[in-house]
Amino acid sequence: MTAFDQVAAMSLLSIDRLSVAYEDSAKQPVQALQDVSLDIDAGELVVALGASGCGKTTLLNVMAGFLSPDAGQARFRGEAITGPDADRGVVFQNDALFPWLDVRSNVEFPLRVKDWPKRERADRVDYLLRMVGLSKVANQAIWSLSGGMQQRVGLARALANDPEVLLMDEPLGALDAITRQTMQTLILDLWGRTRKGIFLITHEIEEAVFMATQLIVMSPRPGRIVARKNLDFSRRYLSGEPARRIKSDPAFVATREEVLSLILDSQLDSDRAEGEKSATYITRPKIERLHAAHR
Ligand SMILES: Nc1ncnc2c1ncn2[C@@H]1O[C@H](COP(=O)(O)OP(=O)(O)OP(=O)(O)O)[C@@H](O)[C@H]1O
Ligand SMILES: [Mg+2]
Repeated sequence: MTAFDQVAAMSLLSIDRLSVAYEDSAKQPVQALQDVSLDIDAGELVVALGASGCGKTTLLNVMAGFLSPDAGQARFRGEAITGPDADRGVVFQNDALFPWLDVRSNVEFPLRVKDWPKRERADRVDYLLRMVGLSKVANQAIWSLSGGMQQRVGLARALANDPEVLLMDEPLGALDAITRQTMQTLILDLWGRTRKGIFLITHEIEEAVFMATQLIVMSPRPGRIVARKNLDFSRRYLSGEPARRIKSDPAFVATREEVLSLILDSQLDSDRAEGEKSATYITRPKIERLHAAHR
């Protein structure tokens, strides 16, 4: 195998035995991630699913280059990730748009940073706004947009530099159920058209099962990967099957229930471990026994 073939065979983004710990306010270590390994290839949509605080954003921050690992490696095309770069676009968990700029200027911002010439910048922003269906509101203020529209601005901005990987931290978390479903299909359509590698975080089980080609289920802190599943529901959507039909297919429902059980089991295991550490901690089985005793 030549050196070129080796690079070609390599994953786009690779996380190998990653561990990250923070310090709490009493300077005690908080183990956020432990021994996490994960590969993202071009054209793959990897979804991380897990309870609040299990380290999903921490994992994304390492991939983006905002945070360095305490142990393990994060590589992009085989090279260690040492900081943020235009090859990895980020859609942040909390609204991170610039409220003092209009829609067009928000999307244009990364291109200005990269000193794109004015004419090319304008063409690129027009293209991106068309892609996310926001051409009509290009000159509007951010505050005048709905939540779903704001998320689409964030998406267009993350795509501005044509990154190879898109890292999305709960991009649909703040949306109502209907807008959320529309946005799921918008992201899948974009993914189908661009064939980028995507890493997407959610705590919505149905969304995760629908969108993922590779689903990773994470345990409560310290975050570990407790299950991985290769799924093809998003590819079925891209080949023309309607989203609602896929989501009501018995195979989909069975997968959704299986993933729910995996999450509940890992939550119970973690509750038990906590219960063993602290005699006063009331675990779920204890709560169930208490209820049974009072019936
Ligand atoms: N800067 C920090 N300093 C100390 N602890 C932190 C810091 N950032 C995160 N943590 C802790 O690390 C753990 C993982 O946090 P992280 O934000 O990665 O979780 P998450 O899975 O993204 O949660 P959520 O679903 O609520 O967004 C949490 O217990 C959190 O309190
Ligand atoms: Mg988070």
